[in-house]
Amino acid sequence: MSLLEVSGLRCGYGIVEVLFGLDLSVAEGELVVVLGANGAGKTTTLRAISGMIPASGSVRLDGTEVLGRRPDQLLSAGVAHVPQGRGTISALSVEDNLRVGGYQRSSAEVTEDLEMWFEVFPRLSERRTQLAGSMSGGEQQMLAIARAFMSRPRLLLLDEPSLGLAPLVTREVFDRLRDVTQQMGSAVLLVEQNANLALDFAARAYVLEAGSIVVSGSASELQGDEAIQKAYLGL
Ligand SMILES: Nc1ncnc2c1ncn2[C@@H]1O[C@H](COP(=O)(O)OP(=O)(O)O)[C@@H](O)[C@H]1O
Ligand SMILES: [Mg+2]
Repeated sequence: MSLLEVSGLRCGYGIVEVLFGLDLSVAEGELVVVLGANGAGKTTTLRAISGMIPASGSVRLDGTEVLGRRPDQLLSAGVAHVPQGRGTISALSVEDNLRVGGYQRSSAEVTEDLEMWFEVFPRLSERRTQLAGSMSGGEQQMLAIARAFMSRPRLLLLDEPSLGLAPLVTREVFDRLRDVTQQMGSAVLLVEQNANLALDFAARAYVLEAGSIVVSGSASELQGDEAIQKAYLGL
């Protein structure tokens, strides 16, 4: 059974439909990417899965229907979401942002994980007391990911971490993320416009076009298929 099983997911804003019945799945510990151009519906997909906007269809976690649950209920069930634009609390320090991320856990566990994240991202350690809002885009993205992981999620929903970052910084973020997910056994559902970087990171990919999935396969299949790259990935 998949950890996450999405089927027939439909949603929109007002009378405008945006997603037209998506099917996708993520296995335990798996790294999966949804690729798509600007406006394809990537952010909407993650919002619908994490309960931020109303949707219809089915979202099952370990076989249990969770569609209609609130984001905080999903967090308790093990699903953390790093929204587009990162969602760190700019008026709090790096350390306090991380502590907020672990609010459902014991202070001993939080302290232990804090030290681990400061090792994963030494730049956060150097900036422990700095306000999140005054950090660079790359540092804020690292903080947003670390903060989401402070809840020890089984599944991380990650919205376009590459946005506004230099490719080298994005690669660094993905590399660290891959190490940590392997270590913790967490799964990641990433949505990205940057197919090049994302296909290096993920094991499996879906291509979303105008609210429908048009192609899916292993990352290496998609990387090796020139027709798909030309038609859908702009490579
Ligand atoms: N809050 C909103 N209200 C109305 N329409 C929206 C809203 N957010 C997104 N949309 C529309 O939904 C479509 C998909 O947007 P989005 O999911 O943000 O795409 P992506 O993340 O792939 O760039 C776009 O046409 C966008 O204009
Ligand atoms: Mg988006």
